[in-house]
Amino acid sequence: MYTIGQQMETSASLLEGGPLAAKIKQEVKAEIEEMVRTRGVRPGLAAVRVGDDPASAVYVGNKIKACEEVGIRSEHHALPATTSTAELLDLIASLNSRDDVDGILTQLPLPAGIDERAIIEAIDPAKDVDGFHPVNVGNLALGRPAFVPCTPTGIIELLLHSDVEIRGTRACVVGRSQIVGRPMAQLLLQRDATVTICHSRTRDLASVTREADLLIVAIGRTGMIGREHIKPGATVVDVGMNKVTDPVQVRELFGPDAEKRLDVLSKRGFTLVGDVHPAGAAEVAGRLTPVPGGVGLLTVAMLMKNTLQAATRRRS
Ligand code: GUN
Repeated sequence: MYTIGQQMETSASLLEGGPLAAKIKQEVKAEIEEMVRTRGVRPGLAAVRVGDDPASAVYVGNKIKACEEVGIRSEHHALPATTSTAELLDLIASLNSRDDVDGILTQLPLPAGIDERAIIEAIDPAKDVDGFHPVNVGNLALGRPAFVPCTPTGIIELLLHSDVEIRGTRACVVGRSQIVGRPMAQLLLQRDATVTICHSRTRDLASVTREADLLIVAIGRTGMIGREHIKPGATVVDVGMNKVTDPVQVRELFGPDAEKRLDVLSKRGFTLVGDVHPAGAAEVAGRLTPVPGGVGLLTVAMLMKNTLQAATRRRS
């Protein structure tokens, strides 16, 4: 734990997602302009959100905004929490049948009363730009062409862009979700890493994560991965995005760098913190993704790329 005024030795360099996300979106935009100019075709994305989860509203808002930036036609279907599975299936069926819709995403989590699995399985795999449909999940596992979930592909892009070695390294993924952990492990395996997946039942987590040259954390628990979990010099990717509202916790997490975060907290009522303890990790990791400003920005950029890919495949 740090007290204000104490010097923190920081060694980790920051792997920022912003510049790469901007570059990817710029490339997608140029390809879309070319598609419109030469073929008169503009890709379309339908985003479906059910209920009033404020985080989901922000995420979908960011996706719609990115569509505007790159020239994808977008539509936002915001449905009430009382929507039934049957009503949602009807909407998905109509989006599947429309020629001007290339990509469909349903923002997760869906409200408890909706059969999430039935909804995911109803989306045409050729329009499944989130890569959640079992056909795409299976193709990824088999190493065949597939739509792949956007956060893990964004992480791979960031590692490649930052010249982080993957082949032959020991990679550890903490978290086994369908959205991040599992597809992340598949992508690292495809690139010849030796991959371990850890989860809530892993015994002596730190002894496993400390072996990793590449540590990817997606567990949704504020600052849980500390310096004791990290091999000195490792590359640490933090997928977590947790709201912290307690100033005492902010000081504990950020040590002498807490002041800026305390400012954010007093203005907005919260600050965003990942699953990795920022001050602890900065002391031992070689490279570290910041939160915010790390992988979150890449997720949206990769969604744009997947939507362009869906349009290219469907319309060729
Ligand atoms: N909820 C959290 N991450 C995601 C994502 O990448 N896609 C969708 N559809 N829902 C999410």
